[in-house]
Amino acid sequence: MQPCHDLIERLEKAGQSHLLNFFEQLPEEEQSRYIAELEALDLDLLQELIAACVLKKPVIGLPEDLQPAPYFPLIPRNEAEADRYQQADAVGEELLRGGKVAALTVAGGQGSRLGFDGPKGTYPIAPVSGKSLFQYFAESLLSASRKYSVKLHWYIMTSVVNDAATRAFFAENDFFGMDSEQVHFFTQGFMPAIGYDGKLLMASRGSLALSPDGHGGTLLALRKSGMLDDMKKHGIEFLSYFQVDNPLVPVVDKRFIGLHKLENSEMSAITLAKTNAHEKVGNFCIGNGKLLVIEYSDLPDELANATDENGNLKFIAGSPAIHVISRSFIERLTVGGRLDLDWHRADKKIKCIDSDGNALDVTEPNGVKLESFIFDALKLADKTMIFEADRKEEFAPTKNATGVDSVESCRLMLSERDARRLERCGVEIPRNADGSLNAKIEISPLSIWDDEDCAAYVAKHNIKAVEAGSVNYFV
Ligand code: UD1
Repeated sequence: MQPCHDLIERLEKAGQSHLLNFFEQLPEEEQSRYIAELEALDLDLLQELIAACVLKKPVIGLPEDLQPAPYFPLIPRNEAEADRYQQADAVGEELLRGGKVAALTVAGGQGSRLGFDGPKGTYPIAPVSGKSLFQYFAESLLSASRKYSVKLHWYIMTSVVNDAATRAFFAENDFFGMDSEQVHFFTQGFMPAIGYDGKLLMASRGSLALSPDGHGGTLLALRKSGMLDDMKKHGIEFLSYFQVDNPLVPVVDKRFIGLHKLENSEMSAITLAKTNAHEKVGNFCIGNGKLLVIEYSDLPDELANATDENGNLKFIAGSPAIHVISRSFIERLTVGGRLDLDWHRADKKIKCIDSDGNALDVTEPNGVKLESFIFDALKLADKTMIFEADRKEEFAPTKNATGVDSVESCRLMLSERDARRLERCGVEIPRNADGSLNAKIEISPLSIWDDEDCAAYVAKHNIKAVEAGSVNYFV
């Protein structure tokens, strides 16, 4: 078998002929698979990106007029705002009951920081039951569906690295009680890794070193996979977007959804007050009249540390990566099957072969991965909206095995949230002198999704107190 002349020519023109160096040694079935992989490359785009982002380090030019972005505060500032929030609750609830809202989870990442071998969503996160992240979300969506008398749909983005394992996990677990037609998987695109000399890296003699193209890839993947059409068919207009690493997220939030609609926003975002100047979250900023998220790593120290007249951080608005996105906005951005989001460079240690076809022992970054980020779509929206949330009620990311944003801290925050919920319903909770919990507590999201459910549960089971040092699973 021979690659077609056109492919050979295009690779040559793009300076990537080395990709065929071992072609003749490959077994025939591998040859045809590899040709398909090569044919799928957008060589023109790659050539542009290699010149702009690989052969030189792109300079992150921040707009000179960079200012913190305004947002709707958690606690309304006046009566008019309080009325607006009430109105948003009603509008959001109506949209949910009318089946206009679906959940969208990005789960295509590799989760390497967690040191877990498998799709991150399969990680057993719940503090007592050990339910996985996926099960936690599924049960929350089932409860929300019950609350709003609707079958909420759930779109889950996977990637080449974890699609099969993710689908198998849902199938093995009977979709955690959801109907399989409620759950829609789609796979994001990929990008080849590139060596510092501008040559694409090869994972083996007959395959490229590929990796997911970043969560910005969600938008185009929704279009290419036919999911946008599927949403349209189901009458879905708004997507409640969250990351697979945050089980504390309210999977759908009527106030946030309602405000998005009332403000005619195309893409909205939740913000949280940052815990410190250098917390590892994106920062909501306005620059050149557009809403931007500037990653913690790109915000210069003098801006990160800047304070306002009250001594508070000037750039206090952090991003937990929770959004509402209008379907019509995604349709507009991806028309013609193309999407113009910025590409971001990450220098990485990439497993690959050398010019003799032998596996390289990689101990230092040896190339570049390119990713696009979904929050860069905010600056393409005609109208945006940011709403503040209470961190302890919405954000417990599981990024690391221990320490900050870890499995440990996430489990503790889930327990704390459930304990507060019980306390609000009059249940006595044992606490240590410093206020920390003196019991393990988990409420199944399937039984209790909000305070109203909790009050009914506590009354039904006549729960008065939780014993000090006990382990409790309310199911
Ligand atoms: C991310 C955000 C940061 C935000 C923080 C909140 C970026 C660059 N930064 O940081 O602004 O404050 O979360 O927790 O995203 N994913 C895919 N496909 C990909 C890459 C990622 O689906 O190709 C998914 C992951 O599965 C995960 C989410 O996107 O659900 C976040 O990815 P991750 O790389 O962990 O982002 P962070 O650097 O933690």
